[in-house]
Amino acid sequence: MVGLGPRPPPLRQGSKTDLPQNLIAQIRYLEELFTVDTQKLKAISDHFVSELDKGLSVEGGSIPMNPTWVMAFPDGHETGTYLALDMGGTNLRVCEITLTEQKSEFDIIQSKYRMPEELKTTNNNEELWDYIADCLYQFVETHHGDCTKVDVLPLGFTFSYPATQNYIDEGILQRWTKGFDINGVEGQNVVPMLDAALAKRGVPIRVTALINDTTGTMIASAYTDTKMKIGCIFGTGCNAAYMEEVGQIPKLAHLNLPADTPMAINCEWGAFDNEHKVLPRTSYDVAIDRDSPRPGQQAFEKMIAGLYLGEIFRLVLVDLHDNEEINIFKGQDIAILRKPYSLDSSFLSGVEEDPFENLQETYDTFAQKLNIVCKLPELELIRRLAELIGTRAARLSACGVAAIAKKKNYKSCHVGADGSVFNKYPHFKARGAQALKEILDWPEKSNPQEEDPIEVLAAEDGSGVGAALIAALTLKRVKAGNLAGILHPEHFK
Ligand code: GLC
Repeated sequence: MVGLGPRPPPLRQGSKTDLPQNLIAQIRYLEELFTVDTQKLKAISDHFVSELDKGLSVEGGSIPMNPTWVMAFPDGHETGTYLALDMGGTNLRVCEITLTEQKSEFDIIQSKYRMPEELKTTNNNEELWDYIADCLYQFVETHHGDCTKVDVLPLGFTFSYPATQNYIDEGILQRWTKGFDINGVEGQNVVPMLDAALAKRGVPIRVTALINDTTGTMIASAYTDTKMKIGCIFGTGCNAAYMEEVGQIPKLAHLNLPADTPMAINCEWGAFDNEHKVLPRTSYDVAIDRDSPRPGQQAFEKMIAGLYLGEIFRLVLVDLHDNEEINIFKGQDIAILRKPYSLDSSFLSGVEEDPFENLQETYDTFAQKLNIVCKLPELELIRRLAELIGTRAARLSACGVAAIAKKKNYKSCHVGADGSVFNKYPHFKARGAQALKEILDWPEKSNPQEEDPIEVLAAEDGSGVGAALIAALTLKRVKAGNLAGILHPEHFK
């Protein structure tokens, strides 16, 4: 510990019965507020199925269900070298991926660039595209030498926001999500915007495919595991993709494609229940939505995704301090805690991972980061609150997975998942698996080592390898004469 003097003596070991009455009652109340029981999970996932259908219909619904023009799973024999750019929520990543002759294998070189916070809400979208062009310039110079002497390289652009794609090489941004709010991009095709910045900067790169991270995750995972049917991201945002048949997509009927043609759908399920019919929203969820750059959007995502978990937690604590009957952190200055979005989901992970019975690590973190000295009962409440928020997120996210499985009648399959919450948040996988079991009424396993019928597994790198595979698959179908959904087939040569 820095600057706080000697470590305080361990706090008294306590059990919940030692908690002051008002905190016990408060914990009970929070438990009621944040617990989603089996019945509710089932109701949510049933409603989810009908909303997935609605999204595919001509009239549409809240969930966009965007066709992506990714029209096949890989077979593991794809080859070639491809560039990929990932513009997720937090970082920019540029990769060069070589799909090798060896089945299902690849080599990758990559560079990460921090996405400057101010770019996420800039008034001038050119600043965004110019920054990306600069990063790509650096990457090409480092790995290919002088940009003026390099032939034009094709790029798979993982742009993980809801986009309408009439073509694989087009992406009309429907709306920003994940706290982004950049002027002049919504309603526009982002591909020419990036291409123009690349041309201006003299970067020998052209965008040939626009990809969502979930589609990339599904395709990358299927490269090494043929049981993979769904790709999910549980990170800054939350979303999934799966493979549909064109005949099941009424909004594509006008294209007269063969009914059994596969078409990957980027669900954009973060928008589930924007009309607030089933999700058990709390006043904290309502406040997060109200104060976000896009109120009324991404109702499901705002209860689950990494961007919001710390914020929900923060809002509850501030409320319990301000509420005179409860008044946690009594007499203390909670100015730091009052700052919106000051706690990220790793803060919550830390609380859940505190190995000490007396919650010493949580005590230290609150003291160091928030300048708040917690009493043991308060620490107990904090820990329980983190568990409740983390568990609610995992259980709700299982409703989406169950809905796709029900819709497609998948009794058994693998789901590839990626993202910081999935990979780093304690117990997220186990809690999600438990919820899936409850929703889908799986019987007890005789052998605990056995796989669940539907297993959510850590995915292969979707925005790198997935983007490369999608480029390779598109190239393959152009060669085979299937030009559906490709604006510039001449770029696939
Ligand atoms: C948000 C985006 C979506 C993306 C997800 C995960 O929900 O709208 O496109 O897949 O975050 O990054």
